[in-house]
Parts: sequence; structure tokens; C-alpha cells
Amino acid sequence: MGWPFFSSIEISIRSAKASDSHEIAMLHSEGGFSHPWSVEEIEGLMTDQAVLTDIACDSRKSDRLFGFVMSRCAADEAEILTIAVRQKTRGKGYGRRLIEAHLPKLTQKGVKILYLEVEEDNKPARALYDKIGFVTAGIRKGYYRKPDGRLANALIMKLSLDSL
Ligand SMILES: CC(C)(COP(=O)(O)OP(=O)(O)OC[C@H]1O[C@@H](n2cnc3c(N)ncnc32)[C@H](O)[C@@H]1OP(=O)(O)O)[C@@H](O)C(=O)NCCC(=O)NCCS
Repeated sequence: MGWPFFSSIEISIRSAKASDSHEIAMLHSEGGFSHPWSVEEIEGLMTDQAVLTDIACDSRKSDRLFGFVMSRCAADEAEILTIAVRQKTRGKGYGRRLIEAHLPKLTQKGVKILYLEVEEDNKPARALYDKIGFVTAGIRKGYYRKPDGRLANALIMKLSLDSL
């Protein structure tokens, strides 16, 4: 089923601000993660100077969020802690736009290599990371426990920001 209302929305990418924490928690809870982050956890991360968070929002109403990406920097490396796009607006390029806007900001902070972990079976996320140019750097067997109790492998992926 299509969502005609959402198809007419123009989005912008901007840096997150403290007042976004509740919406970010809502987006994270829609992400299907085994441990949904609380507002307090998100607020804690957002006050960390090493953490960079970007938001996809309605360009006419900037407090209306459709997705976010959050990374933590350490020296010349960084890790994507999480990315999530609102369920009803997935597959519209928002995830790609978020990462593409996020990368130059990491480069400005001196980051040369970006890492992330993704569940091996997470097809949408793997498609997104492949399109951006991430490559698999390792595998952690049985790293995630799914809601039904099964274990799933985690892939460690990396992207050299020098090559962009
Ligand atoms: C992963 C996620 C952020 C992707 O966001 P999105 O906005 O739906 O992705 P995009 O629309 O930007 O798609 C990016 C690319 O991946 C491809 N893609 C996206 N979903 C796909 C799917 N289900 N199957 C195959 N390819 C897919 C798109 O075709 C697109 O390629 P293109 O740019 O060449 O057209 C989103 O699915 C999500 O929030 N998932 C839940 C949370 C999650 O799993 N986060 C990742 C944790 S590691």
C-alpha cells in the first residue's frame, strides 16, 4: 500500500538539537532494535562532544523527523552507532541522504575511516551500506540475539573517507 501523504514531503538534513531527543527515541523504537534507547540514553549521547547526530526532517517543519544517523568519533576513526528511518517513509532515499550529508561532517572532524556493525540478515541496511561503498571487514558469529531467541551474525563494515 502506498502512502500518498508522505510522497509529497520535501526533506532537509540538519544537525540534531537537544529538543529532538523524544522524536529520536520514537524513531529508534521503530527501528526493530533489540534494545530501544530511552530518551535519557539519547540525551546522554547527544551531550557527548564526540557524538555527531544528523536528522532528516520535513523541510517546512523542522521538528517533524523522518530519520536520524548518529556516529561517535575517536581520533581519526568513527563508528555509526545507529541509523533509522521512519517505517512509513523507508525506501525513499532518506537513509542515503542522511549518510551522504553525514560523511563530510565526519571528514571535517578529521575522521578517515568509518566503521559500523550490521546484522547479516538486515537486507535494507546492507543495501544502503553497499550503495554508499562500505566493505565488509569482519564477522562476529552469533553476535545478536533476535527477539525469538535465535542468534544472528554481525558484519563489521568500513568505509575509507579518504577515497570519497
Ligand atoms: C536501513 C534503513 C535506515 C535504510 O533507510 P531507507 O531510507 O529506507 O534507505 P534508502 O531509501 O535511502 O535506500 C538506500 C539504498 O538501499 C536500497 N534499499 C533500501 N531498502 C532496500 C530493501 N528493502 N531491499 C533492497 N534494497 C533496498 C535502495 O534501493 C537504495 O539504493 P539506491 O540509492 O541505489 O536507490 C531503514 O531501512 C531503517 O530504518 N531500518 C530499520 C533500522 C535499521 O535496521 N538500521 C540499520 C542498523 S545497522
